[in-house]
Amino acid sequence: MEKMLIDVDTGVDDALALLYLGKCGKCEIEAVTTVCGNATVANTTKNTKYVLGLLEAQAPVYSGAARPLAKELYTAKSHGHAGLGNIEGVPEACLDGLAEYKIGAAVSSNAGITILALAPLTNIALALGRYGEQMAGARYVIMGGAVRDGGNVTEYAEFNFYVDPDAAAKVLASGLDITLVPLDVCRKLVLTRRQLDSLPETTEVKAMKAMLEPYLADYEPAFGGAVLYDPLAAMIALDQKEAKTEGMCIQVETTGGRRGSCTPTAGEVKVVTEIDEEYYLREFLRVFA
Ligand code: BDR
Ligand code: CA
Repeated sequence: MEKMLIDVDTGVDDALALLYLGKCGKCEIEAVTTVCGNATVANTTKNTKYVLGLLEAQAPVYSGAARPLAKELYTAKSHGHAGLGNIEGVPEACLDGLAEYKIGAAVSSNAGITILALAPLTNIALALGRYGEQMAGARYVIMGGAVRDGGNVTEYAEFNFYVDPDAAAKVLASGLDITLVPLDVCRKLVLTRRQLDSLPETTEVKAMKAMLEPYLADYEPAFGGAVLYDPLAAMIALDQKEAKTEGMCIQVETTGGRRGSCTPTAGEVKVVTEIDEEYYLREFLRVFA
């Protein structure tokens, strides 16, 4: 069983990743930490608690940064008004602000834990600032960056890196053991309405459908279905068999028109460059079937 701490800005695709991880039987969730991104941290925290509440196994939730390291918060457009599509009535959650401390504690007390970062890297950068070299005791799997393709916020930048480019630059230059799952490969993993409708109407699948409503409508014209960014990173964190990586050094631009863009050169960050999308889609559907 892989031990994991998951950092999220829940978010429709973060929610699908959490549901997958909670149900796949391959990992033990040490904690979930939340950050602003797709929505405010108040909304991403209550969304996270709502999603974990759909699962039998519960995990503790710690809230984190309410704003990026240095920039104004920019939230997403395709996840509905509070981040979880058409899900209504999600109860308020208390904000403890403890995410960066929990990340440091989890790394110190669990050698080799996986930190799965599915959001702007603000919490990870803050933990790195606070705990320094101790943070090297973990492996990091990060969804973010547009390495070989155009971005999804600007021509150049992927959302997580655009929202907090200063945090992304700091983490990517840290020398930590990082596997980066960039936008380019995530765009290959698409869930169609037909595949969604083929799943049995369990509680989680009903919730998934309500979450996915505005997100699917937004993605369908260009991709034919919903792009599963965060679920792909989650699956790769547990099983890298069908994902090819190349060593790169990723320099993240922090200002100007190219804010959040990546310049790759040769280096140590394991960047996923190819996936067998059918393999990962089958695995995603298996868990909900
Ligand atoms: C990333 O940005 C967010 O909107 C998604 O949750 C995902 O983590 C994709 O660019
Ligand atoms: Ca996310």
